[in-house]
Amino acid sequence: MIVAASILSADFSRLGEEIEFINQSKADWTHVDIMDGVFVPNISFGFPVIESVKHLCSKPLDVHLMVVEPGKFIQQVKSLGTETMCVHYEACTHLHRTIQQIKENGMKAAVALNPHTPVSLLEEIICDLDMVLLMSVNPGFGGQKFIPSTLDKIKKLKKLISEHGCNTLIEIDGGVNHDTALLLKEAGADVLVAGNFVFRANDPAQSVQFLKEL
Ligand code: DX5
Ligand code: ZN
Repeated sequence: MIVAASILSADFSRLGEEIEFINQSKADWTHVDIMDGVFVPNISFGFPVIESVKHLCSKPLDVHLMVVEPGKFIQQVKSLGTETMCVHYEACTHLHRTIQQIKENGMKAAVALNPHTPVSLLEEIICDLDMVLLMSVNPGFGGQKFIPSTLDKIKKLKKLISEHGCNTLIEIDGGVNHDTALLLKEAGADVLVAGNFVFRANDPAQSVQFLKEL
């Protein structure tokens, strides 16, 4: 299992130390949630904040943009040293163009789907994607309750990917914890994002290890 630790649930007053924890942990990626208060009903942090800590991040950055018109920010996301840039299906009028531009800028391209958005909408583009992120909560906040229908959605997405013969990864974001992680793995998840389960745990390293050893 690939594990992406989400700094949205970190203690921002100690952001450098929290990133150092991820570096030392068994987590594979650092998940960065950028929100604009328009696409989602919350504002997290913007580019200046991540700019100021990017030199501390030794794990690849998995940047999840919850903003309208994310295609406008490809250069700024690239300048963070991002490995994977994820844009929302619901926020892109010309998704194909945005995906091509992300890849032309040397990043891996991922598309996120809100809970209500069916995976079948990705049929024409699935093999162009390095990863699909399925939101298993409504985006905007950490610590929300997992939406159980995500499990069926993972199976549908897995089928779509195998029917097209591509190797797109499936990432799950929201409500990943002790109770949901194994179910997600069994349904076909390749990557689990974890925010509260890691950063609000008594033993964050142990939470990461639990996910790694599923
Ligand atoms: C929510 C974000 C998630 C968030 C997950 O909109 O996209 O990445 O950090 O938090 P948990 O793991 O606490 O549900
Ligand atoms: Zn996220």
